[in-house]
Amino acid sequence: MELVNIKDLFRNESEYIGKEVTVGGWLRSKRDSKTFGFLVINDGTFFEPLQVVYGDALDNFAEISKLNVGAAVIVTGVLTATPQAKQPFEIQASEVCVEGNSAPDYPLQKKRHSFEYLRTISHLRPRTNTFQAVFRVRSLIAYAIHKFFQERDFVYVHTPLITGSDCEGAGEMFQVTTLDLDQVPHTEDGSIDFKEDFFGKPTNLTVSGQLNGETYAMAFKNIYTFGPTFRAENSNTTRHAAEFWMIEPEMAFADLQDDMILAESMLKYVINYVLEHAPEEMAFFNQFVDKGLLERLQHVASSDFAHVTYTQAVEILEKHNEEFEYKVSWGCDLQTEHERFLTEKEFGRPVFVTDYPKEIKAFYMKLNDDQKTVAAMDCLVPGIGEIIGGSQREDDYDKLVGRMEELGLNKEDYDFYLDLRKYGSARHAGFGLGFERCVMYITGMGNIRDVIPFPRTVNNCEL
Ligand code: 4AD
Repeated sequence: MELVNIKDLFRNESEYIGKEVTVGGWLRSKRDSKTFGFLVINDGTFFEPLQVVYGDALDNFAEISKLNVGAAVIVTGVLTATPQAKQPFEIQASEVCVEGNSAPDYPLQKKRHSFEYLRTISHLRPRTNTFQAVFRVRSLIAYAIHKFFQERDFVYVHTPLITGSDCEGAGEMFQVTTLDLDQVPHTEDGSIDFKEDFFGKPTNLTVSGQLNGETYAMAFKNIYTFGPTFRAENSNTTRHAAEFWMIEPEMAFADLQDDMILAESMLKYVINYVLEHAPEEMAFFNQFVDKGLLERLQHVASSDFAHVTYTQAVEILEKHNEEFEYKVSWGCDLQTEHERFLTEKEFGRPVFVTDYPKEIKAFYMKLNDDQKTVAAMDCLVPGIGEIIGGSQREDDYDKLVGRMEELGLNKEDYDFYLDLRKYGSARHAGFGLGFERCVMYITGMGNIRDVIPFPRTVNNCEL
């Protein structure tokens, strides 16, 4: 049995009109009378559902009449043009095979449900128009990102999810252990003895693939990672998840400028790709989720991103301190409210903030000549704030060791990383794009929980 996607029927209508087709899908609604009825089915490939007309000539007419919303069916019949009707065509069924009826308490009604309610049924929400659009576009964005890097000969590296190091040095890690916590062996000083553990040392889920990625950039020149990362941050916000995906390119023989050029062209490429390949989904978001989204994205794709140093950004923000909950002064970390002010009010487009104080950035960033700031960049976008964090890396062995000592990092844990600075060190730079924040930005969805199929956030690990 060869099924046709509903999307293909709409995209190549003339090829199918007058011919017999077979379509599988789930029932969105049903109307019937004593001798005939209409089924409206959706197969997840397209927004537009397909209308099916069936009559009492079918052997299982009674069975079809008992179908509830949500039921799964496979329908065969001739695709017939309906120029007078709302929909351009319908199937006149010669066969309706009931794969599985749905119970009458199907939780999705024809009315619009709130996103909060739909989060409580994350196994069924992908059957709604909004979540079909979100997850089709999420899939397309992932594809566009791979395409962007592959077209430029970046090698895709699969970095490990279980690791012994803390890339960001922020201590926000989920520990991985096989020890029985009730009977953990302790050393003499009372701390847990990880020698007895699976790996013989403490390990955690990765917060970033960067350090491993750097080792491959020092062999392949240009690489990227694209995989899950985990952070035990206790941030219950609309843009933080405990499990999220990150894209981390790393380029040898590249500096901070090259890094920002790559980040900007990647974002523009992905936006253009989605606008071109998901026009119906993007029109849907523009109408129902975020009015003005299309205009904004088109503008972003065709104009240059702004650039400002951290020091200049702080000067701008200090003038507006009365508007902020957290007051700004040189040395402070920028909060979402500050990031959004810069990108939405001050520049009205995406902005790169560069050269942050070394104290608020990770140990691996290259120290600038002023000895106070590092060659870091964050890319901020309207509606979200930070979407990308990156830097040129410290490639000088002694300076890197000095920085690690200042921060009290254990050098043995980073032997492999230091070796890169011993054996053919070269300037190099990279960044991390938060995949879900990118999906939020492109779809206009306001909560990270609504762009992740099964979100993991503080106090939430359902399914
Ligand atoms: O700025 P971050 O922490 O950078 C790194 O991890 C570097 N190792 C990246 C690199 O240079 N290779 O994180 C990068 C991005 C952020 O800009 C944000 O978009 C996203 O990852 N991110 C999160 N997304 C969702 N939930 C969280 N808890 C996130 N934390 C960071």
